[in-house]
Parts: sequence; structure tokens; C-alpha cells
Amino acid sequence: MTMLAEARNLSIDFGPLRAVSDVSIAIAAGETVGLVGESGSGKTTLGKALIGLYPPATGEVALAGRSLDRAARRDRLWRGRTAQLMFQDPLSSLSPRLTLRSLLAEPGRIHGLETKAYWARVKHLLAAMAIPESLLGKYPHQVSGGQVRRVAIARALALEPRFVVADEPTAGLDVSVQGDLLNLLAELQSRLGLTYLVVSHNLNVVRKITGRVAVMYLGEIVEEGPTRALFARPAHPYTAALLSANPQVDPGRRREKIVLEGEIPSPLKPPSGCRFHTRCPKAEARCRAEHPEATDLGEGRRVRCHFPLA
Ligand SMILES: Nc1ncnc2c1ncn2[C@@H]1O[C@H](COP(=O)(O)OP(=O)(O)OP(=O)(O)O)[C@@H](O)[C@H]1O
Ligand code: SF4
Ligand SMILES: [Mg+2]
Repeated sequence: MTMLAEARNLSIDFGPLRAVSDVSIAIAAGETVGLVGESGSGKTTLGKALIGLYPPATGEVALAGRSLDRAARRDRLWRGRTAQLMFQDPLSSLSPRLTLRSLLAEPGRIHGLETKAYWARVKHLLAAMAIPESLLGKYPHQVSGGQVRRVAIARALALEPRFVVADEPTAGLDVSVQGDLLNLLAELQSRLGLTYLVVSHNLNVVRKITGRVAVMYLGEIVEEGPTRALFARPAHPYTAALLSANPQVDPGRRREKIVLEGEIPSPLKPPSGCRFHTRCPKAEARCRAEHPEATDLGEGRRVRCHFPLA
């Protein structure tokens, strides 16, 4: 299987803060992988690192088989055609001085690909998300947040990149527009074989569109596996707690309800042993002393816990 995006023992630091800690993940071409976890767990940082936006403090990243060393990270043309980010906060990532039309033209111009076919693609994307062409003369602050998000999405997809990191793609969109967007992503995937990493707090969206999911806590991936199996039988107490907090996701199929209590500890000083032990209802002495390694549960499932549930 060709891996389109791959991190090996990847850590990303912001000064003294380790936002991503020793993460290994491999995303195959054509897959849709979900990334979930509470706010501040490192999802955006990992997504951006996978497309070369941050230099690793440890480990390495490869994109489309090319190691993302310094030269590859600086190769913006290649990166732009290979991978794109749908920003979590599109308004702050788009220049307020450009009209929507200029913003949509930009990726094509930068890559010397602003052809008729390029604009035909952009128009198809806009139509699929119900953005009328009459809006294109406006500036980002003159349209709604949902419309800005959809323009940013069209911009990210206009070059037909092979790998797309979609960071909270449905946030702030009406349910009907959410549906249109998810259909569009699926259509592009089946037509072009796109690969997606979808970061979302919306576990319903994750359950619907991803085949595999990774769960982050304080910079680490604590569990990963096929979405259906992981949602039906979470192995990590943290995953179980996240699912318990969202009863609309597969109601009644879990064995026990685990309630998440307490604050997330500071990532500047993560707890010893298992990072989740300060909030885990299953914690024992060993959890405070010994950092759990990721163990293989079979069927593509991995968990970082001394006492897995599944
Ligand atoms: N550019 C930055 N400089 C310094 N610290 C940062 C930077 N970006 C993120 N962080 C910190 O790194 C940690 C992980 O942040 P990140 O944005 O990746 O989390 P997240 O899982 O995407 O959260 P959310 O769900 O709120 O989007 C947080 O503690 C955050 O404050
Ligand atoms: S290692 Fe211990 S504290 Fe950590 S999740 Fe597992 S049971 Fe809970
Ligand atoms: Mg984020």
C-alpha cells in the first residue's frame, strides 16, 4: 500500500511546549482518516506538520513518498500541488484586502495554472457548495462566516491536491450545507482518489466519513483503529469518555459510561507515567509511574494504555 502521508516518532515543539509528542501515523492513498481529541490536544499542529508547515523536533514526516526535509518543506510549489490545508479559522488565514475572486485565483496564479480548466473547477466547487458567482466581487468580511469557509474550501481544492488536511471543515456551517460539503468531499475522493485527514469535534461527522480514526490527548495518539470498531468498542478510557460525552454517536452500544472530569493538564508540564492518569477512572499505581507504549490489539487497532478496555 502506498502511504501518502506518514509521520514517524514525530514531535513538534513551540519553545518549551511539546504540542505533538512521539506520534507515528501512516495514511494510505485514498483513505479518509479522522483526528479527534479535546481542544489543545495537538490536532491542528499534527495536521500542519504532516504537510510540512512545521519543522520536526524529533522524528520525520514523508509526503507522497518524499521525506519532508528542509528542502522539501521549502519547495512550496510541490507542496501546494501535493497537499493543502483547509484552515480551522478561514477568515484569519485569508487576506482581507483581496476579493473572493482574487483569493480564488491566487493558488492557480502562484502555480502558473490559472487556466480555463482551473476556473471551471473552481466554479464547479462553488456551485456544489451553493456559493453564487455574484458574491465573488466581495471581500471576506462582507460575506457570512459560512460563506468564507466555503470559499476557503474551494481555494484549497482548486489545484486538486492529493492530500487534504480538513481542520474542522463543517464548523459554523448549516446542517444542509454541511451535507453538501461532505458530499462534495466524497465526490472528489471517488473521482480523483483524494486522501483526507479530517480534524473534527463533531464525532457524527467523523463516524460518517472516516474509515479510520486517531484519538489525541496532550500531544500523543492514545488510540487508533477502524472507525466503526473503535466507536463500538473503545479500548482507551479517554476514547470511551469522549464517546460517552457524545451519546448521539452509536447510542447504547458501549459497555460502560465514563465521565471525563477535571481540567486538561498543562502541556508545558504533562503528568508523569500515563498522561491521562490525572483524569482516568481506571488509573492504578502503575499508570502514575510508567508511560504506556502503543500496543497492537490486532485488526489495525493500537492503544496506549496499561489496562485497555477492549
Ligand atoms: N503557534 C503556536 N505557538 C505556540 N503554541 C502553540 C502554537 N500553536 C499551538 N500551540 C499550542 O500547542 C498545543 C496544541 O495546539 P493545537 O492548536 O494543535 O490543538 P488542537 O487540538 O488543534 O485544539 P483545538 O481543538 O482547539 O483546535 C496547545 O497547547 C496550543 O496552545
Ligand atoms: S494507562 Fe492507566 S491511567 Fe492511562 S488510560 Fe490506561 S488505565 Fe488510564
Ligand atoms: Mg485545532
